[in-house]
Amino acid sequence: MQSGRVHWSNRLAFIMAAAGSAVGLGNMWKFPYITGTNGGGAFVLIYLVCIAAVGVPIFIAELYIGAKSQSNAVQAFEKIHHQKSRWKAIGWLGLVSAFLILSFYSVVGGWILDFEYQSITGAFLHETDDQIAESLSVLFASQGRQLFWHGIFMALTVGIVMGGVKAGLERWNKILMPGLIVLLIGLLFYSFSLDGFQQSLQFMFSFDTSNLSGAGVLEAVGHAFFTLSLGMGAIITYGSYLKSTQKLGRTAVTVAFLDTAIALVCGIIIFSIVFSFGFEPSQGPSLMFKTLPMLFVKLPGAYFLSILFFLLVSFAALTSAVSLLEVVVAYWDEKHGTPRWKTTLLSGAVIYILGILSILSTNDWAEVKIFGLTFFDLFDKLTSQYFLPLGGLFISLFFGWVLGEKAVKEVFGDVSPFILKTFLWTSRVIAPAAVAVVMINKILQDFSG
Ligand code: PHE
Repeated sequence: MQSGRVHWSNRLAFIMAAAGSAVGLGNMWKFPYITGTNGGGAFVLIYLVCIAAVGVPIFIAELYIGAKSQSNAVQAFEKIHHQKSRWKAIGWLGLVSAFLILSFYSVVGGWILDFEYQSITGAFLHETDDQIAESLSVLFASQGRQLFWHGIFMALTVGIVMGGVKAGLERWNKILMPGLIVLLIGLLFYSFSLDGFQQSLQFMFSFDTSNLSGAGVLEAVGHAFFTLSLGMGAIITYGSYLKSTQKLGRTAVTVAFLDTAIALVCGIIIFSIVFSFGFEPSQGPSLMFKTLPMLFVKLPGAYFLSILFFLLVSFAALTSAVSLLEVVVAYWDEKHGTPRWKTTLLSGAVIYILGILSILSTNDWAEVKIFGLTFFDLFDKLTSQYFLPLGGLFISLFFGWVLGEKAVKEVFGDVSPFILKTFLWTSRVIAPAAVAVVMINKILQDFSG
């Protein structure tokens, strides 16, 4: 083990940090809207199966690779395997994904900050329902406002990463994460009383495959990776700040459970509003921004509620953004010995500039398309649906075939040989094959259609 490496204070702090990475815009913004565009129930079911069958095993593999190697996402493979290991390409793909994801993630984080600002000025309170529903479109039309908030979001991310993940995050995570959970449970209870509640449950949990295409299945698989922060080294990097490889299984299950529960609760709340107010479930990225403010203005304490909510969501988004940037910074620091502040600032600046492409996608360049997608959609789809699943597939193969039985024993300790074998073959064959089949299927479909 390297001496002087910073470690999480205790297991709880680590679980909170990993959950902080996992729980973010993926749960509150992306999951509800892609459930909407993919027709509900069948999509949710596939997503849940992926979390359990593919997500959890890969989460364990990433934690193990990090904790065992005590290294960043690229060098981890060199340390565990050998200096010239080709497996480190997984780490490189992860670095590329981190840049691309953070560039659009920070733009959406900026939208949240803008809504927080509007909550503070009380803007929503004086608006009609139609005006509230148009708030995001109004924001889209303003490049200046988006550039500003994207900048603030990126600056906050850079600030936290510069201070070191541990010092920067541990303290706040312990307060704000539970805060978010309490508020969401409160909103869930409130949504019971909405007319659209029953319909929301039906939409999310009735299994109707007629709505689902190959593209939808790939989106569900991809989202399982995105929401758990898998396939790009974030969990390897966080795992490397752990002292031991023990009890990783339990940690992975806890984080996956928390992450999934939060996504489902957000979905139920948002679709209850959708069906109560007669919105379109399939309207895309604006879904959360149209529905929630609408609910808040109707509730007692609307002013404070909305401020609190967007504050907690900004925090959830920040803790995820930090884990993305940390992948890049940890690598550069450890490999090249560059001071932390330099890499953080420089990569933050590059990502900020890259993010401008996503901002332009919402206005002037809305019609500029590559493979039929705006830059925003391209970065999102390329990473969640191709890079992350591909990274995850190889991480699973690496864990199952290169590290093998010994690693599985280290993770699980004294459990029955049946469980050991099941886990081993899940990571050797089942998880990688499932991901490969879905990706190949989609590609074949694209070519034939
Ligand atoms: N898991 C985060 C979310 O759901 C996003 C993320 C993806 C973070 C990949 C780190 C790595 O918002």
